[in-house]
Amino acid sequence: MDTKQFIPKELSNSIEKASFTWQTPSNIALVKYWGKSDPQIPKNASISFTLSNCYTKTSIDFVRKQVSNQACNFELYFEGKKKEDFKPKIEKFFERILMYCPYLLDYEMEIHSENSFPHSSGIASSASGMSAIAMCLLSLECALSKVEMSDAFIKRKASFLARLGSGSASRSIEGPLVVWGAHAEIPESSDVFGTKFPFQVHSIFEDYQDTILLVDKGEKQVSSTIGHNLMHNHPFAAQRFTQANENLSKISQYLQKGDINSFIKLVESEALSLHAMMLTSDPYFILMKPNTLEIINAIWHYRKVTGSKACFTLDAGANVHLLYPLSEKNEVLQFIDNELSMFCQKNQYICDHVGLGAVEK
Ligand code: PMV
Repeated sequence: MDTKQFIPKELSNSIEKASFTWQTPSNIALVKYWGKSDPQIPKNASISFTLSNCYTKTSIDFVRKQVSNQACNFELYFEGKKKEDFKPKIEKFFERILMYCPYLLDYEMEIHSENSFPHSSGIASSASGMSAIAMCLLSLECALSKVEMSDAFIKRKASFLARLGSGSASRSIEGPLVVWGAHAEIPESSDVFGTKFPFQVHSIFEDYQDTILLVDKGEKQVSSTIGHNLMHNHPFAAQRFTQANENLSKISQYLQKGDINSFIKLVESEALSLHAMMLTSDPYFILMKPNTLEIINAIWHYRKVTGSKACFTLDAGANVHLLYPLSEKNEVLQFIDNELSMFCQKNQYICDHVGLGAVEK
């Protein structure tokens, strides 16, 4: 993939001040990305549902510098408060994308960001956070560009930039289903940006529901960055990457045909395979908590007894995502209240569903 296409060619210097606000959602992977090479190239292709209610809203105010320098100058406010400890991550992100966004050097930036979900909910905010910043930068680039930028190119570049901040953020620009990572059976798929799942999806997966059961809201013991790195020299890495790519071929068929039983089996197996990689890393680690397993067992029991099509997935943490068709919403919410919320911290869970990606505010 030629990434030079993302280096802007003709930019004007006519804009003194501008401000843009974007809201971008989190996403939940069905086939997981775990393991990468430099610079943020995934070892296997992944696919996710874009979410809706779990989002980050970010505004960036740009003011043209009076005296130019060679640094990205910005202030960062999170939920109204200046956040010095979030700055290094953003600084690193800006350095990484500078060759694709040279205009970053021309402006003083004030970034204001807030999440719809509680900060310490254990929900990863890097996907929604990085994609929201990427969209604000693309809005500035559009305003500066002397050549017209197509909507498709804007989304592609935003995903490309977001990926350099956090791999999974590449899947938060569009929806409802996004693939990231080059895959032989997914036309247009790429290692450097996410693309919409290109096939017609069966109606059973429309407006699919995701209730996030908040098992553990604390800071993760092992960050995703460390976890990804432990896939280098991992004894099962090669098989895992092959398995994930095969699972993407399979889930593509299940999504198109509406084969929900096979979908359930694959999605749950993917979640457990991700955690199996953690259990067998060197050093090994466990992100699940006892209540994660209580919930998984209760879901399996509920499915057996009722014939429900609800299934679980996990990201790199202890929380459980309960995925189910819209048609089961009332019953499943009842089940959560009766049998699952007791395993959540303060009985808390977040009701979300599949969404369409970034929205300008
Ligand atoms: O985007 P990162 O580096 O935070 O990694 C995310 C990895 C998983 O959430 C565990 C899986 C995925 O594909 O989203």
